[in-house]
This record gives sequence, C-alpha cells and structure tokens, in this order.
Amino acid sequence: MSVDDPFSMIIFGASGDLARRKLIPALWSLYAARTLPEPFAIVCTARTDMSDGEFRTRMRESVGEFARLHPPSEQVWERFAAALCYVPGDPTSPDLYPRLEGRLGEIEAKLGAANRLFYCATPPSLYDDIVEHLGTSGLAHSGKGWTRIIVEKPFGRDLASARALNQQLASVFSEEQVYRIDHYLGKETVQNILVLRFANGIFEPVWNRNHVAHVQITVAETIGVETRGSYYEEAGALRDMMQNHLLQLLCLIAMEPPVTFDADPVRDEKNKVMRALRPIDPTRLDQIAVRGQYGPGFVGGRRVPGYREEKGVAPNSMTETYAALRLQVDSWRWAGVPFFLRTGKRLPNRVSEIVIRFHRTPHMIFRRDPAGVDPNVLVIRIQPDEGLDLTVAAKKPGPAMMLSPVTLDFKYGEVFGEESPEAYERLLLDAINGDATLYARGDWVEQAWALLDPVLTAWGRTPDPSFPNYEAGAWGPTAADALIARDGGTWRNP
Ligand SMILES: NC(=O)c1ccc[n+]([C@@H]2O[C@H](COP(=O)([O-])OP(=O)(O)OC[C@H]3O[C@@H](n4cnc5c(N)ncnc54)[C@H](OP(=O)(O)O)[C@@H]3O)[C@@H](O)[C@H]2O)c1
Repeated sequence: MSVDDPFSMIIFGASGDLARRKLIPALWSLYAARTLPEPFAIVCTARTDMSDGEFRTRMRESVGEFARLHPPSEQVWERFAAALCYVPGDPTSPDLYPRLEGRLGEIEAKLGAANRLFYCATPPSLYDDIVEHLGTSGLAHSGKGWTRIIVEKPFGRDLASARALNQQLASVFSEEQVYRIDHYLGKETVQNILVLRFANGIFEPVWNRNHVAHVQITVAETIGVETRGSYYEEAGALRDMMQNHLLQLLCLIAMEPPVTFDADPVRDEKNKVMRALRPIDPTRLDQIAVRGQYGPGFVGGRRVPGYREEKGVAPNSMTETYAALRLQVDSWRWAGVPFFLRTGKRLPNRVSEIVIRFHRTPHMIFRRDPAGVDPNVLVIRIQPDEGLDLTVAAKKPGPAMMLSPVTLDFKYGEVFGEESPEAYERLLLDAINGDATLYARGDWVEQAWALLDPVLTAWGRTPDPSFPNYEAGAWGPTAADALIARDGGTWRNP
C-alpha cells in the first residue's frame, strides 16, 4: 500500500556498512520493483569526504553486490542515482545542519513537498547528538510536511540508557514520529506468525495452557563475531539478540488477538505480554538463565577459533556469546507454560524457529506401542527454509498397530515460488508510508530492558569461571539442556 507523498530520506552514517549493505540496496530494490513512492530524494551524510558522483559510484557497486534486484538497464540506475546526493560533515558538529538544510531546501523546492524521514545509521553513541541538532537546527520541524526518524538498534544498553534515549527523542519528536527498527520484524515469516494465529480459526482453541506444554524460541548463528569483536565485547548475546529479536518473537506467540492489524492495537497487545512476563528473580538465576561462551571447535567441517581468540576480543573476556532463559507469562492463557528462549554464536546451524510443544494425549489407547506416540509439535521456521511443520502420529503400514511420527510440512518458497523482499525493504516502505506496526514502541523497549536488567547486572558482577563452556559447533553449554530438562523437555536441535 503506498501513500505516494514525495519525500526525502536523510541518512546519517551513510559511508558505513549498514547503508552500503542494506539501506541503499533496499531502497534501490523498492524503486526497481516500482513500489517506492515518487518523486523522492536520498540525502546521505557522513564525515568521509566524497562528491555526489563518488558516492553514487560506490552505491552502484553496493547495489550490484547486495540488492535483491539488479539494475535492468543503466538508464534505470541513472534515474535512481539522480535522486542520491551526499553532504560530507560531522554529525556531532552543529555546522553540518545548516548545510543539510540548504541542500534539502533546493531538493524540496523541486519535489514540491517537505516530508522528511531521518535515519540514524551511525554508531549508537551518536544518536543523542544527532537528535539534539535536528531539534536545535529546526530540521526536525519543517512545518511543511511530515517528519519521522528511524533509530537503529541497539536502542540503549540497559534500562537507564534506553530511557535516556527515549527522553532525548521525546524532547524533539512525538512518539508517532519515532520508528525504532528491529529488522527481524520485517521478515515475511515473522509477519506470517500473526497470519497463522489470527487468520486461521483452528489454532486459537489450542493456543493456551490447556494444550501447550511449552514453547521454545531459538535464534542460532554459525558465525562468530567476524569483524565486530569490539562491538560485541560491549554487547553480548543478551543485549544483541535476546532483548530485541527473541522477546519480540515471544510477544507475537503469546499476545492476545489485536482488534485490527494496525500499529497501536498490535503494539498494545505486545505490551500486555511484556507486563505479564514474570520479573526475573536474581536470587534464582541458576533456575532461569544460562550463559555460555564458545571455545575453539569445528563449524561446517572447518576449524574455527574460540571467542577469546577473535579480533578485538580480550583474551580473558567474560562476554557471553550464548544465552538461554526460561520465562513465564503470568496470564490466564499461559499460566504455568514455560517459554524457553536461546540464542548463540558458533552453533551448528544457522536457524531461527519457534517450537510449540503440545501436551501428550490424556489417555493412550494404543498400549502396545506407547513409545511411538510423541506429543504433537508445531514448528514455525523463520529462517532458513521458511515455513512450518506439524508433527502428528500415524499408523505404520503393516498388520501390527505400530505408530510413527509424520510431519506435515509447508515450505514458503515452494508454495509461493517467489523471492521474499528483504526485511529492510518492507520496513523502510512502512516508515515512508507512516505505518509503525512493525516497529518497536518506546514503552515496549523499556519493558524489555527492565526484564533483562537483573540478569545483565548479575552477570556483569559475577564472572563465569567455566568460560569458555561450549565448543564452537556444539549446541551451547550443557547447563542449557538441564534448564529445559527440569520441565521434562529437550531442545529441538534442527
Ligand atoms: N551493519 C549492519 O548490518 C547492522 C545491522 C543491524 C544494526 N546495525 C546498526 O546500524 C548502525 C550503523 O551500523 P554500521 O555497521 O553501518 O556502523 P559503522 O559502519 O560503524 O558506522 C557508520 C558510519 O558512521 C560514521 N561514524 C563512525 N564513528 C563516528 C564518530 N565517532 N563520529 C561521527 N561519525 C562516525 C562513519 O562514517 P564517517 O567516518 O564517514 O563519518 C561510519 O561509516 C549501528 O547502530 C549498528 O548497530 C547495523
């Protein structure tokens, strides 16, 4: 759905990795697919000195390397490139902003509108400065159209810093103007969770404590920290993945049906889940949370170094590269159902999935083969191999009554046959069209940090002498198996 207002997008940190690999390729793919509202302008800024021409050449290479759609002809690329310009300058200095204003003034006169979408794609330590300068320079208040701002993750590093950033944003923008991005929410299969739950009548009756024994949410990576060692040292698995992606997934699974699929009803329901999550008791942390750090090992048949040997990582680092939590949603629907969340680096497979494990049948009439009857399991696969499968029991062919689990499998790619848009494409288009449904609201972010703060504090205070406690290529530390076994479960390791 397109509103088709002319607009300008102003990207801070445009010489960086995110702009090169994600933002400009996503904008290009939207343009090439004719879904980007026109006319538009993309004003890019960073300290690196470049002319418009040099910047366009760089972006032509990025698009060739990273975009989902490739330029059908040079003329189409030239038309897109004509909308790209570059203003060199330091975003922490007030001098940059009048120059941006000047360039925007010329552009907006041609566009015939002053709708502005700012994008903070710099290191997070600069967000405060950028927001302040947008306010004091007047850039955030053109008075002649809409103004919005997209803020990249991480949004704070604990409750206090997230609150401070929310306050800083609120001093210049209203909440409706602020778009906190979590690219996970732009994935087709994540959106499909809501369709699965709320466009099908058959799931609602079983989506509760009467039928669900437990829920597992796994986001596993095979990669280590690559070139981001110094960033990861300050973050760790809990901040990098759990506080945002995994808790968002939990909310989509646990939320009540919103009245409509619009920003406020959806986000209100997600907030109710956050309020219902039982606060983590730091005195019982060993029953609720597990942390890990990978040592050397083998992934995909290749020998890989341990975390402490990675570039930018301290040789005695205590940063966790794996985290698992057992959470409880204290609501009528979910009372007593544990939610197990885990995420880690250098695990055997790159996979994101949600497992809904149902209760056993109350009485088993096939007594001769009780071992053959596993409880039903619904698996929602977010990546790769997007889709879902439901495991049910079936009779094995033959004279004896022997049972076997069989899987009913739906593969997104096979059924629809077309390539899904990149998450950034969907999310950028939504922000341009003023739809914040798939963006995080300020109060949600604060609640997520409030939930995890006791774990962050406890782990920060007490180093784990067992680190490194899992080999690269293993499914995390053994304590994580014990965490789920206490409730009679086992992790599904795909
Ligand atoms: N890269 C990704 O795939 C990814 C994924 C998810 C989220 N993010 C988030 O997106 C944001 C941008 O990521 P990124 O990887 O593109 O970051 P980046 O490459 O480290 O930084 C982006 C740009 O910011 C400018 N910059 C860096 N330090 C600065 C400083 N002290 N003062 C002024 N400008 C400075 C640099 O440009 P100049 O030197 O030219 O000024 C740099 O090219 C981060 O918040 C990151 O957490 C990134």
